[in-house]
Amino acid sequence: MLLEVQNLSVSYDTATILHDVNIKVDDMELVGLVGPNGAGKTTLLRAITGLVKWERDHKRGLRQGKIRMEGTVHFMGERIDHLPAHEIVQRGLVHCPERRRPFMEMTVYENLLAGAYLLNGKRSEFKELLEGIYHLFPVLKVRAKQVSGTLSGGEQQMLAIGRALMLRPKLLCIDEPSIGLAPIVKRDLFHRIGEIARSGITILLVEQDVAMTFAMASRNYILSHGRLVSEGTSQQLMQDEGIRKSYLGL
Ligand SMILES: Nc1ncnc2c1ncn2[C@@H]1O[C@H](COP(=O)(O)OP(=O)(O)OP(=O)(O)O)[C@@H](O)[C@H]1O
Ligand SMILES: [Mg+2]
Repeated sequence: MLLEVQNLSVSYDTATILHDVNIKVDDMELVGLVGPNGAGKTTLLRAITGLVKWERDHKRGLRQGKIRMEGTVHFMGERIDHLPAHEIVQRGLVHCPERRRPFMEMTVYENLLAGAYLLNGKRSEFKELLEGIYHLFPVLKVRAKQVSGTLSGGEQQMLAIGRALMLRPKLLCIDEPSIGLAPIVKRDLFHRIGEIARSGITILLVEQDVAMTFAMASRNYILSHGRLVSEGTSQQLMQDEGIRKSYLGL
């Protein structure tokens, strides 16, 4: 098992955001995590990748108050929930955050270079990764010298994913990549996420577009009000009438 989250609970002050969540992601899987606004999807990713803990320890929560996190997270068989976020990244558990905007005043190339900080200046590895990213997102090569703030929404999302790939993830957690994108751009982006998965990178995909996610993922979790309400293969979930009605509008 690549990732194993057990009995994870997170609360801010008196509000419990995640209740006893258990999820697993196996090597080479593409797993979907869906659920309505405010369900706790982003909080779950932030807890896994060490950001909730960082907030707690540095008292930097958006809201001043007590943050509590319980439960365990194992990655590649080792317990990581006590590790700082930068060590979790180094192990290959990478988070591509929601509404991620690249450094707007830097060019596309500079953003990718900044993303490669874990390579410690190894030029040949950087070039190899860069080629891979340009192959996956040719538009980033075309726009390499363009200032990132002038990219379209879809291009910015591709750059955000490209930058995450520079960290050589084993598990890439992508938070709502399709938000705000036109249907055709969205389909194209999903297609490329599928290519990343086929290249051997395990993916945990957080999305509100349930139909698209089920079409891509082999297994899915449904989170609602901080609790897992269902899990299964896309096929299993699509056969469930309640889920079809609530999440697919069918
Ligand atoms: N730092 C924080 N301090 C206080 N409350 C928080 C904090 N972060 C998240 N929350 C609350 O936790 C709940 C879950 O938020 P979260 O962002 O995880 O949901 P989500 O499923 O990602 O929603 P969306 O689909 O809108 O992105 C929300 O009610 C939110 O207000
Ligand atoms: Mg979110």
